[in-house]
Amino acid sequence: MSDKYAPTPEDKFSFGIWTVGWAAQDVFGSASRAPMAADRAVRKLAEIGAYGVNFHDNDVFDFDESDREQNIAAFKKALDETGLKVTTATTNLFGHPVFKDGGFTHNDRDVRRFAISKVMRNIDLAAELGAKVYVAWGGREGAESGGSKHVQTAMARMKEAFDILGEYVTDHDYDIRFAIEPKPNEPRGHILLPTIGHALAFINELERPELVGINPEIGHEEMAGLDYAAGIRQALWHGKLYHIDLNGQTGPRYDQDLRFGAGNVGGAFWAVDAVEEGIAKGQYTGPIHFDFKPPRTEDDEGVWVSAAACMRNYLILRDKVKAFRADPEVQEAIKAARVDQLAVPTLAEDETWEDVKGVEIDVEGLAAKGMAFERLDQLALEHLYGVR
Ligand code: GCO
Ligand code: MN
Ligand code: MN
Repeated sequence: MSDKYAPTPEDKFSFGIWTVGWAAQDVFGSASRAPMAADRAVRKLAEIGAYGVNFHDNDVFDFDESDREQNIAAFKKALDETGLKVTTATTNLFGHPVFKDGGFTHNDRDVRRFAISKVMRNIDLAAELGAKVYVAWGGREGAESGGSKHVQTAMARMKEAFDILGEYVTDHDYDIRFAIEPKPNEPRGHILLPTIGHALAFINELERPELVGINPEIGHEEMAGLDYAAGIRQALWHGKLYHIDLNGQTGPRYDQDLRFGAGNVGGAFWAVDAVEEGIAKGQYTGPIHFDFKPPRTEDDEGVWVSAAACMRNYLILRDKVKAFRADPEVQEAIKAARVDQLAVPTLAEDETWEDVKGVEIDVEGLAAKGMAFERLDQLALEHLYGVR
């Protein structure tokens, strides 16, 4: 019997090597699982039906690079033998204590120069392996206290770093674009570029804004109490959704990195709705990427159950979203809620402000008329709950 929720390469599911590879050390306890070499992660991900991977330099080889050549060779061999693609790459600018105050915005100039060179080195490897997106998550770029970081100056250094890196990929003719990943806090008390909106505004200040977009993560937006689907829809509108990090989160608290589909289920439904619309309109061309952490309670078997569930949940929700959009009653409810009317420009083509200045409408009638949003949302929930 064929399983309609079995992933195929056309689904373009990808995972960070560090997700399944996380040995589950946390602030309160040591690792509960064995470390996993990148080549094993690749082979196992291929087995469960993934299409691609994303990696930090130090997911493949150690910070001291003593194992660099041999581990890259094993990684490449696993990629060749499984056919898995490297869709994305990124740099670890947060693990080593030298980055305790960040990389691009570390107060110490030497560290900033070292951070940029570490990124360049991994961009070379990323380009060689065919990655099209280079993620920049500035987890350590930030502060715990107000006086320790001059934010305007930090923004200037952040811009300088992206301008240098933009020039680097341009000079090397690399077909790579950057995707900034916002996060409000953790590991720093406050992180710079904390939300989608902050990152989008920052990109406008760069020398090569066309090379830089965003990589929003569900958990990170929800940690800030924000609506992920609305955030990625705005990013699509700006033409800036270059990558996505899908996972699960239950409300504003520490970064849970649950498997996709767990946590805020309603939010996951609307996230898939937004992503699928972006794909259908050719506005999102990246992978369906998962950045989650199998909980510390799980052994190796549990890790793969959790990873497979990310893909399965996406496919289940994709089915439900499609059924919701195709349902004639939903289409009728959308009309009744006047959702379609928002697409009509507020001024007609030949009108100017003069045509609306003295406009008269049925104020009382329109004020009394309900929006019928509850009916529409109940239809969405019934699709989600599986009763339609
Ligand atoms: C997090 C982040 C990280 C980054 C990744 C890329 O959970 O705080 O998602 O996992 O995405 O490290 O640099
Ligand atoms: Mn996260
Ligand atoms: Mn992430």
